Amino acid sequence: MPVEQSRLAFPAYPRREIRFHLIDLVVRLMPTGWKYCGSRILLKTPITESEEIGVPEPYTWMWAGPKEIAYIDQHAEATSPTAYARRAARGDRCLCIMLGADVVGYQWVTRRNGCVMCGFGPGMEIILFPLARDQAFAFDLYAYRNFRCRGIGTMLKGLLYQRLREEGIREVLSLVSPDNHAAFRLQLRLGARPDRMVYTYRIRGWSKTFLGPRNDKQLNKWMQQFMLHSVARPKIDLVRNANRQ
Ligand SMILES: CC(C)(COP(=O)(O)OP(=O)(O)OC[C@H]1O[C@@H](n2cnc3c(N)ncnc32)[C@H](O)[C@@H]1OP(=O)(O)O)[C@@H](O)C(=O)NCCC(=O)NCCS
Repeated sequence: MPVEQSRLAFPAYPRREIRFHLIDLVVRLMPTGWKYCGSRILLKTPITESEEIGVPEPYTWMWAGPKEIAYIDQHAEATSPTAYARRAARGDRCLCIMLGADVVGYQWVTRRNGCVMCGFGPGMEIILFPLARDQAFAFDLYAYRNFRCRGIGTMLKGLLYQRLREEGIREVLSLVSPDNHAAFRLQLRLGARPDRMVYTYRIRGWSKTFLGPRNDKQLNKWMQQFMLHSVARPKIDLVRNANRQ
């Protein structure tokens, strides 16, 4: 079921401004460490026909197998330890850019449903909207610090879109934090369209997600801030600096 049709499972926020602040306050005041409030922008990227994306030597790309999953799990920059193996076990896939046997960046994708804290332990993951047959949900895009600003993130997205298109996917959904300018810029550059806000709350085992309304003031505000403050990052040559980490 596409996001448009899944709003019943996902109540829109009628008077979001007041309710949002109230729920936010309640969650923040809860006397427990197990709580979470998140505001993300839902991005929709139409997958169109494109030229074949090449990966320049000495780099290669592959879908992660057990070796690559173990590599990213044990890496010092691992953001979701143990979740990687859980995701792989249920069929989520991880596209990797490799330098020899080392992973330098990766991007996860699922055709099951949208999620927050995808693959985290029991009771931690928050399941969002279901996906239509021709939709996929991309999450956890990561380029290791020493390999940023070399086009790895762009390449991962491009490769992913191409592979998904071959599988019949026509739209990729993803979530981005409004203040994550690097990820936001990258996705906008590749054709992503900000759709609406997604507000997620958790208190211990209870969680609730709200889909923001169209023409969301908060989203417009974030977009304005982004346009004003986002700046291009210095670019580093990917191939010339392959061995300089
Ligand atoms: C977001 C993230 C994945 C971006 O990865 P990245 O590899 O640095 O991204 P790219 O190099 O493709 O793009 C960065 C810049 O390099 C430029 N670039 C693109 N191709 C390039 C190339 N061949 N050579 C050099 N630079 C290139 C891009 O134009 C881009 O510039 P911009 O700032 O104007 O957008 C990375 O910053 C990261 O891992 N962040 C932490 C995790 C995170 O926030 N993930 C997103 C969750 S939604």
